[in-house]
Amino acid sequence: MATWDLSKTKHHILLCNGGSCMRKGGEEVTVAIRQEIARQRADEQIHTTRTRCNGRCEDACVLIVYPDGVWYQNVQPEDAKEIVEHLVQGQHYQAKISHRYSGDGFVRNETVALGVKK
Ligand code: FES
Repeated sequence: MATWDLSKTKHHILLCNGGSCMRKGGEEVTVAIRQEIARQRADEQIHTTRTRCNGRCEDACVLIVYPDGVWYQNVQPEDAKEIVEHLVQGQHYQAKISHRYSGDGFVRNETVALGVKK
């Protein structure tokens, strides 16, 4: 149990730990991202949370960064360094982005599946 001081948090990473993501290495991604945050001494600025399914299983492993509204797809443990390095610099690792919030919905990278209508 923990109660973190979030006053210096700039990025909140949601690490999908739903079934599909866990079958594709979600645990290893979660550990790698957290280790990389620690290695880069970025704990104050990057907070992480494990989640259940985020509804984009085809994109597993899914990682989401708020408040930026940027969704990542097909994340592998070896992407952790690039993802965290970019966040520390206030940027995003373009190679794995699936969606970006535009202020009026999420804009999908055309290489990822549209998905079914809600
Ligand atoms: S299990 Fe991760 S998006 Fe569904």
